[in-house]
Parts: sequence; structure tokens; C-alpha cells
Amino acid sequence: MTAAMDVTLELFKSNHLYSWGALGLFTIILFFSNSRDPISNVPGPWYARWTGLVDTYYWVVGRKPSYINDLHLKYGPIVRVGPREVYVSDLEAVQKIHRIKNEFPKSKWYLDFNPGVESVFNTPDIALHRRFRRLLSSPLSESGLKVFLPQIEDKVNLAIQRMDEESKTRGVADIYKWWLFMTTDVIGELSFGESFRMLESGKTNQYVSDLQSAGQMSSYRSAFPSLFRFVARSGIPFPLLSRASGYITRIKKYSTESLQRHKDLVEKEGEDARPTVFSKVYKAENDESITQEEIRDNAQSYIIAGTDTTSNTLNFMVWAVCGNPEVKSRLLKELDLLSDDFTYEDLRHVPYLDHVIDETLRKFPVVPAGLPREVPEGGAELCGFHIPAGYTATTQSYTLHSDPVTFPNPEKFDPSRWENPTPEMKAAWMPFGGGSRVCIGLHLARTELRLGIARFFKAFPNARRSTREGMSDEDMVPKTYFLATPQGHRCLMELH
Ligand code: HEM
Repeated sequence: MTAAMDVTLELFKSNHLYSWGALGLFTIILFFSNSRDPISNVPGPWYARWTGLVDTYYWVVGRKPSYINDLHLKYGPIVRVGPREVYVSDLEAVQKIHRIKNEFPKSKWYLDFNPGVESVFNTPDIALHRRFRRLLSSPLSESGLKVFLPQIEDKVNLAIQRMDEESKTRGVADIYKWWLFMTTDVIGELSFGESFRMLESGKTNQYVSDLQSAGQMSSYRSAFPSLFRFVARSGIPFPLLSRASGYITRIKKYSTESLQRHKDLVEKEGEDARPTVFSKVYKAENDESITQEEIRDNAQSYIIAGTDTTSNTLNFMVWAVCGNPEVKSRLLKELDLLSDDFTYEDLRHVPYLDHVIDETLRKFPVVPAGLPREVPEGGAELCGFHIPAGYTATTQSYTLHSDPVTFPNPEKFDPSRWENPTPEMKAAWMPFGGGSRVCIGLHLARTELRLGIARFFKAFPNARRSTREGMSDEDMVPKTYFLATPQGHRCLMELH
């Protein structure tokens, strides 16, 4: 060590003019970059002021939620992760970001994540978003959904039947597959008036497989937006891009044709013929409030946002309940009070079921990573720091849901913690996001979760995790945090 210092000192002495010059230049650069960096005082790793690449790396490898969480543990409730982005976990600041009035718009990142369309899901334009919500919210509200209950019930019952059949022939049922087919068929029928019939065929159809592939591409596009834009503009032939545009063209064609078929049916037989969540806005379209293309893009966004979110939650819930005998026996006792032909209305009186759902959404949030928002004009005071307008302020449920102060013993899957939730627990529980951009499908999701779990455990009270075919916890739990959901997920259960 001393020898190394001596050598450095010698070098310094022999090249003193150059060395002092370099040091001076470095100080000047540091001074100017500091004075031009309005968030230089926000804590964070040294590299964050220069680059967001480390953050991107963790997004690509699927470990971003835990990377950000570690930064919060080290640096506190506000942490800088890139030249223009901070993460926030302080509840007051989180509520400021996800509020309804004077909202922070979604960042432009969402347009790269879901390219080629502008929908209620990805638009950063506040006025356009409000118009979409105004037109689209009522059919997805609790009361609006009542009309769709028979269709949803049919799909849930068919999923249970298919699991039963598979279990009898194979010895295990891959519930991952059946829940995914169920949620996709539900949203397909509610959006287009006709199901994708994946539960019947037991296979993914071309449209859904295109959507999944396009989703994977979008993940890469959102990680490297400038690179993708540069390649697109330069005209350099790039196989990923041409494949992605092939998917997008096919998806648009399918959605346009399906919606047109349904619209023709409604015009011929009236609004009540196979109602969908868009039937009512066909009329609005006549008033020129929403175009056919906008309906198509929103239908697409429902299918992307409303399928694996709900089905992954169902997987986690079955897996978690079957791994916790006390929870399972309490849930089964509650479900025993229901008759075999219970209705959705009956499920309003089974509180423990709701606690199991809330705890699953806390412990295994299927959207665990950041929800980036742009700081609006005038900037914002967050955790005692001024964040200028145009910078990005992000929150993530993974951190909010694992805070031991808000949720004592956060690692424990404990539905009973929801019997008397504190105001802090309610504020920190954000599996569906929050404020003006809270999930528009949350009532639909809860309907499917309630019905799905109640029917599953009524039909299969002896269900248990299977270790056959090499199935382990690792197979399902960490993979859902991956940027590009890999094909080949599974969740094997022994049902009888
Ligand atoms: C358990 C199931 C679900 C979970 C955990 C979930 C989660 C979320 C989250 C976290 C957001 C906020 C995203 C953000 O701020 O960036 C969101 C928004 C959204 N979700 Fe869901 N979602 C679920 C089911 C559904 C369903 C069934 C639909 C179908 C209609 C849906 C459609 C949407 C749409 C369109 C948005 C954008 C809302 C807006 O920006 O106004 N989601 N969801």
C-alpha cells in the first residue's frame, strides 16, 4: 500500500504540471455539472447522476424491484436512480404523486412500453386520458359488471372443469395455463363479444400469441427506447423491429375485424345482443367522442393489462394458501358455509376470502416494479427535496408492501392482518396503482379472483402443491418479476 502511494507521489511529482491540470479540469467539470444538476443533493449511488444504465440492467434481468428496494434501504425514502429519475417510498410523497387532482402524468416511457397505440393505459395526455376514463369506466364499475356476471361465471366453471380433467388424466393440473386461458377468454368476450375459446381448445390462439410476443418486444423497446428509435429512423434492417411490426399489423387487423363483427351485430340486433364493455361507446362514437381506432386500441390495452395480471394473482393465491395449512383450513371453513351452487352475491359475505385476496396482492404484487410519473409544471417538493418539472418520480409497490413498519413481519403471508388494517396499511397497499391512473379493471379483477378461488377450493379442498415433474417454488415465483415473461411458466397442483 505504502509502496503504491510512493509510486503515485513520484508520478505526481514528475508530471506535476499535467497532474495539477487534470485535477483542475476535473474540479471545474464537477463544479459545472453540479451547478447544472438540480437534483445533485438527492441521495443515491454515485453513478446515478451520470447514467440510468444500471437501473436498465436490473430491469432487463428481471431484478429491478429488489435492486430499487436495496437502494431505499441504503439511502432512505427518496433515492436517485438516473440523471433525471428518483424513486420515492415515503407515504405522503407517494400520495402526492398518485393523486386525482393536479395529477402527475404518466411518463413517456409508457408509449414505448405499448407502442403503436394511444389508449387509456399508456397515454400521458391528461385531457385524452380523462375523456377515455369518462367513456370507459361505467361498464367496468361494480354495478356495470353485473350484466357480465353470467359470462364470467361460465368461464370460471369451465376453467375448473378443465383443471379437473387434466388432473384425472395427467395426475397433476397446470393451473397456470388454465387461469391464463380463463382470464384471456373473459376479457376477449367482454371486449369483442366473442371469446378466444382458449379454454375449449386448450391452446393459445394466433392473436394472443402475437400479443405475448409483441409484449416481449415492447419490454426491450422500453428498456432501450433511443436505440430502437435510432434504428427505426435509420432504416437499418433489424430483424427484431420487422418482426415486431408484423405482430402489430396482425393484432390491429384481428381487433378491427372482431370489433366490426360485433358492431354489425349490435346494429342489427340492438345494444343488448351480446353486450360488451364497449357496446355503449359505439353510440358515443356516433357523437364523435371516440373513434373506431380508439375503441380498438383500448380493447387491446385491456387484453394486455387484464390477463396475466389476474391469472398470476390466482396462481400466487392458490400456491400461498396451499403452503399455509392454517390459512387453508380457515378459508375452507368459511367456504363450507356456502352451498355448492353459491352465487357471486353470496361471496360478499365471506370476509376471510377478501383478506386472502388482499394479502396475496400485498405479498405477491404482480406489478411490483416502478410506476413512473412526470413531475408537472412548477416542480414538486418530495421528501424535502425539490424535483424540477419534467423529471421522473417513480414509486413501486414491492417496497411499499414490504415495509416492516407498515406491515409487521412483512415476509409472512398473513391474511388476518387485514381484519383491522391501519390507515398506513391502506395507504401503502397499491397493487392496482393509485389516484387518477388506478387500474380501471380492478372490479373485474376482484370478481374473477373471488369466483376463481371460491370455486377452486370448493371443487378441490385437497389441492396441494406438486413436486412432480420437478416443480418447485422457483418455477413460478421469481419468474413473474422478469422483464420479458419467459414462455414455459407452470404451476402444477395435485387436486384430488
Ligand atoms: C389482479 C389483477 C390486476 C392488477 C394487479 C392490475 C394492476 C394494475 C396497475 C398496478 C395499474 C397501474 C399502472 C400504472 O400506473 O402504470 C393498472 C392499470 C390499468 N389496468 Fe390493471 N390490473 C389488474 C387487472 C386488470 C384488468 C382485469 C383490466 C381489464 C380491463 C385492467 C386494465 C387496466 C388498465 C386499462 C389500466 C390503465 C388505467 C389508467 O391509466 O387509467 N387491469 N392495473
